Amino acid sequence: MLVDSHCHLDFPEFADDLDAVLARAAEAGVGSLLAIGTRLTRVDRVRALAEAHPAIHCTLGIHPHNVDSEPAAGPGDLLSLAEHPKVVGFGETGLDYFYQHSGRETQQRSFRTHIAAARETGLPVVIHSRDADPDMAAILRDEHAKGPFPGLIHCFSSGREVAETAIELGLYVSLSGIITFKAADDLRATVRGLPLDRLLIETDSPYLAPVPKRGKRNEPAFVAHTAIALAGVLGLEPEEVVRATTENFFVLFRKATRPEAVI
Ligand code: NI
Repeated sequence: MLVDSHCHLDFPEFADDLDAVLARAAEAGVGSLLAIGTRLTRVDRVRALAEAHPAIHCTLGIHPHNVDSEPAAGPGDLLSLAEHPKVVGFGETGLDYFYQHSGRETQQRSFRTHIAAARETGLPVVIHSRDADPDMAAILRDEHAKGPFPGLIHCFSSGREVAETAIELGLYVSLSGIITFKAADDLRATVRGLPLDRLLIETDSPYLAPVPKRGKRNEPAFVAHTAIALAGVLGLEPEEVVRATTENFFVLFRKATRPEAVI
C-alpha cells in the first residue's frame, strides 16, 4: 500500500472529478491520502474531505504564500483545530523566499507558531521550504532548542544543509515528483545520503506531476512513479521503498488510522 503524504484535494483543479481521482488512487494502491491545508479560511473544505472519505486525513494551517492575506493564527487556534479526529498535523507552513508572496518576517512568525503547536501536541508540522535554506536551518535549530517537535520537510528540494539539519533534529523528508525530473541530479545526490527510515513520498498534486506524467495535472495515483524513481535512486526494490515510506508515514502521523486492509 502506498501513501500520498501531501495533496491539495480541495483545490479547484479537482472540483469536477474528485471521485474519479480517488478511485484511480485506490486502483493504483494508494490506501491513505493526506489533504493539506493552506488557508484557515478554507479549513471547512479540507476537513470536509477528510470527514467524507475514510482514506483521507488532513493537516490545517497557513501556507507561507498566504500568511499576509489570512487572519493571523495564534497557537490556540491551531490547537483547537487539532481536536478534530481527522486532523493529524499542522501546515503547510514554512518559508518561501522564491515567490515571497508574503513578507519574510510574517512567514517566520507564522512558521514558529505552527512549530509551537506541533511541540505542544506531538502532531507533525508539514514544512514548505524554497530558496530559504539558511533561515530554514536556523529556525529549525532555534525551535528545536526550545523542545523537540515532530515534522517533515515536504516536497524536498533544498540543499544538503537543510536535509542534514532535518535528519539530525529527528524530522522526516518527503520526496515529490521532482525526483523524477531530468535536471534533478543534485537532489538525487542529496537523497542518496538520507536514511530510508526518514523518507516519505508525496505528489503535491495538482502540481509537479512526475515523469512520465509531467506537464499534466498531478493526482495521488501518480505517487507510484515517485516510489519507483526513489527506489532507483537508493538502489532498492520499489516494494521496499513502498513498505518503508508507508510505515514511516504512520509512525510520524501517529494520529492517522491505518486502513483495515493493512493492519
Ligand atoms: Ni503543498
